[in-house]
Amino acid sequence: MKKLTIAIDGHASTGKSSIAKEIAIKYGYIYINSGSMYRAVTLFAIENKLLELLNDNIDLFIEKLKDISINFRFNQNNLISEIFLNNRNVEKEIGSLEVSNYVSKVAAIPEIRKEMVKLQRNIDRRIGVVMDGRDIGSVVFPNADIKLFLTASDTVRANRRFEEMINNGLSVSYDDILNNIRKRDKLDSSRSNSPLIIEKDAVVIDNSNMSIDEQIKQIKQLIDRKIAN
Ligand code: DC
Repeated sequence: MKKLTIAIDGHASTGKSSIAKEIAIKYGYIYINSGSMYRAVTLFAIENKLLELLNDNIDLFIEKLKDISINFRFNQNNLISEIFLNNRNVEKEIGSLEVSNYVSKVAAIPEIRKEMVKLQRNIDRRIGVVMDGRDIGSVVFPNADIKLFLTASDTVRANRRFEEMINNGLSVSYDDILNNIRKRDKLDSSRSNSPLIIEKDAVVIDNSNMSIDEQIKQIKQLIDRKIAN
């Protein structure tokens, strides 16, 4: 059966990773969350007190990141590729609001993007891959077999993220989350290097009023049609 490359881009907190994960499991493809790579770099910067350099010495900031290693290891139990920063599993830490608050700034640095894109393109695509992010269909895999663009109203997204964090036992405020989402949308869409854009050949899904199952159904139809052709 033909193995596809599926690019899922879209706004922050649109459920890209849940959808990507489910699709990857259904078809036996590899799932890579590219945002987690930018988040891992940001976590490293926070832990090593490098954030100040973001404002006054980007060159030194980049220099300090030279030796970090980022890779994915497949976890047989939850069927996802988990991210390791310098051989430490950081899946949980990268989801914090502190990381979310700085990640778009880090992700806007061209030198960092160049390295991440290199790693993303190194993934073996022979068994099929679903990758989600902001520039997957436009920069990383411009020839992807299927390009999706997920969006939803910012208040719906903030609500979902708020509930998810509260359910995970985190103490957060709805307003902080909404502000973070708005700020990231703006930064991600307006940066000069690889901004978030809707590719001409992308299928746009506004999931403000859609369940995950409805989205999966629509995406499965696209994939099955592509495989049959
Ligand atoms: O998907 P996410 O929200 O975890 O991504 C975190 C940040 O990383 C997001 O605000 C923008 C950035 N990002 C990016 O610039 N390019 C990607 N391919 C993925 C994420």
